[in-house]
Formats: sequence, C-alpha cells, structure tokens
Amino acid sequence: MEQRELDALVYPERVHRSIYVDPGIFTEEMTKIFGGIWVYLAHESQIPEPHDFTTTELGRRPLIITRDADGAIHALINRCAHRASTVCQADCGNAKRFTCGYHGWTYANDGALVGLPYPNGYPESFDRGTRGLRGLPRVESYRGFIFGSLNPDVGDLVEWLGAARPYLDYFIDRAPGGRLEVRNKHRLTFAGNWKLAWDNAGDGLHATYAHKSFALLNEDRYGGNRSLSQFKSTPDDTGMFGEDLGNGHIFVDQRPGISGTFWDTQRPIPGKETAAEGIRGEHDAEAAAALLEAAPGSMINLSIFPNLLIKGNQLEILTPRSVDRSDLHLWVCAAPEAPDAVNTLRMRIAEDFPTFGNPDDIEIYERCQRGLQIEEVEWCDTSKGIGFEEVEVRDGSEVRRAAVTYETPIRGYLREWKRLMASDPKIATV
Ligand code: FES
Ligand SMILES: [Fe+2]
Repeated sequence: MEQRELDALVYPERVHRSIYVDPGIFTEEMTKIFGGIWVYLAHESQIPEPHDFTTTELGRRPLIITRDADGAIHALINRCAHRASTVCQADCGNAKRFTCGYHGWTYANDGALVGLPYPNGYPESFDRGTRGLRGLPRVESYRGFIFGSLNPDVGDLVEWLGAARPYLDYFIDRAPGGRLEVRNKHRLTFAGNWKLAWDNAGDGLHATYAHKSFALLNEDRYGGNRSLSQFKSTPDDTGMFGEDLGNGHIFVDQRPGISGTFWDTQRPIPGKETAAEGIRGEHDAEAAAALLEAAPGSMINLSIFPNLLIKGNQLEILTPRSVDRSDLHLWVCAAPEAPDAVNTLRMRIAEDFPTFGNPDDIEIYERCQRGLQIEEVEWCDTSKGIGFEEVEVRDGSEVRRAAVTYETPIRGYLREWKRLMASDPKIATV
C-alpha cells in the first residue's frame, strides 16, 4: 500500500474500519506481515525426537514442521509439487516420509522428493531435484520457540524480539529448570478479523467490563484478592501498566496488581488441596512454596507480533483465515522438570482463567466485526493515554509505558502494522 493511503487510515488517535474489513488489505497482510517478518511457528517440545512433526500455518499457508534424522528443524510448505494437494493431514506424529494421498508422490522429512510411482513417461526435462516440498528460507529458534519467515533477508531474531525478550525469558524461567513443554491445544474460532485479538491483547481497559460476569462470580464466591480482582475497580491505581515494546510487540504487567503470592490468589480448582498437600509432603517449606508459585499463570500478557499471545501459562496462536474469520489455538505449557502435581495444577488453573475468559473476548470480537461492517460509521477511537506515556530505550527498542487502561499497546502495534504494510519484503521459498 502507498504510504499516503496508510496515513489516511491509521492515526495515533483513530483507525479506519477498512483495515478490519477490506479483503484487499487482508491479502496484502498475508505477504507483508505473515510472510515478510518473523512469525511464531511451533515449540520445539512438540517435535522432541528425530522424525517428529507437527502441522501449523503461516498465514494461510499450511506448513509441516519436521525434525529430520540429524535433529535439524525444517518448515516445509504442506503442498504437493505435483498438483497442489496437502500431503500431511495429521496434527502431529512421527514420520520419515510423507506420501501424497492423491497420486503417491513421496517426500522425505527434509522435503526432498524420494518416491515417484510409475516413473515412466516423464519428459527428459523433468528434474526430481526441483520437485520437492518447498520450505521457508529462514527458520530459527529462541529457547525452544521456533520462528520462520518467507523473507530470506529478515533480520536477526533476537534483535527483532528486542524488548519482548526479557519478558519471554521471565515466562520461560518460571518453569523449574527453564524448560517448557506444550501439551495439546484448545481450539477456538471467531467471525472476526485477526487484528481484533491484537487490539484486545494489550487492552487493560476491557477486563472490568467484558469479563464482568467472571469478576462478579469471583467476588461473590471467593471474596477479594483473587486472581482478576486487580481489575474489579480503578485498575490504574494498582500500579499495573501496559507497554508498546516496539516491532509490534506489546505487554501488560498484572504483577503490580497482585498482593502476596500468586498461589494465594488462586480460586478453588478440582484437586487443588490434594496436589498442594502432596507437594508440601515431599519438599521442604521453601521448595514447596517455590513449586506452588510455578503453578499459577505468569500474570503477564506478552504478545509477540503478529501471532503469539502469551497469557497465564498459555501460548495462544492466532491464525487469520479470511478478512473476517480467525482461529485461536491455546496451548497450555507444562513444566517438565517440575513434579507431576505442579503440572496437574498448571492444567487446572489454565482451565479457570484465561480459558473461561476467552469466550467473553471472542463474543466481543464478533460484536466488533458486526459494527465494523457498517460502512457509514468509519472510525474507531484509540486515543486514551496519548501524551501520558513514558518513553525509554530498552534492548535496542523504543518502549512506551503507560497506565494499564491506556491504549498505548494498540497504538504501538498499529504503528508497526502501518510500517510493514508500506514495506516491500523479499519473499521466497527454498
Ligand atoms: S497431487 Fe500429490 S501426487 Fe498428485
Ligand atoms: Fe479479555
């Protein structure tokens, strides 16, 4: 898109409806954003052994993430070189080869074409070496988090994580031994543009209202000072804050709103007492307290542009399907070096919140999409907090911090969105 077109759609204080409903803008996003920059693909714990694979998407491109015999990770495009059928239909598994279900072309898990049924009749010009599965030119991991890009010239991954990296380290290091293992996923879909989930990811203003039923139930049944009580009234008085971290990454810190330990703020969950007693029985008081503190959510919302939303102990992966449909897959992270009881608690606590909060948010995204379809009312307001931000440079990024109900994170990711939509990234497959 031309810079002047973008300038007419996204201002700091308002954003035009068309960025959520225009199919042409969506198509361009699938190349410039879900293609031209680093995008989260999968976690290494999903493919721990040689020949393990898992499937995912890069924008609308189905991918197979594989680990080959030597342990190297590949991001293959799940598209047969013959006549385009996807070659792998499973969510995950262990396979040395993938055979296309249409005519049997067979590929090794590094993408090479290794089997061609009835090989007679191909012209001399047919070159097997060029008929493999295509792959992403760049695939790199940061502490188990695998990112990929279709842009061979995409910059350094750690540099791009920038000011988000120390928060990602905090999230990982809460698990004993600094190791995470993702388990199975909880799948949600919504009739809305993918950016509605980004508007919400750093939105400390909505919790008091959109999650009101949950907050009221929390207060009525369990009294104050539980997880989420920090949003029941005047959240800006708690010290919680939001940040625009640069590169589209955004952050909300709920930790200043928690008094005492995270464990003490947990609501009753099935099996809580038994698990806690078991942990206390097997460890001294200090170690048991540390293990129990690893069970609740991280109390941060860290969102790594454009598709990885970290909430509680969950990785939420956002996948655009069309301009007005998106998937949100939630993966709970276990701590493999912690006792089983800690992981049981991590799973049960994740079922409490954010799991029970997500239906509230998704209902709201669908309401917003309905409102955005109205052509005659064109603008959304994003002005709260302009002029009230503290700016500093951290880890090579310019970071803007503001009170938790301010719309600083939304303005931050939209500023990056605008920059990327004016860019012309090199796109290639290998
Ligand atoms: S489409 Fe895959 S073998 Fe024909
Ligand atoms: Fe929410």
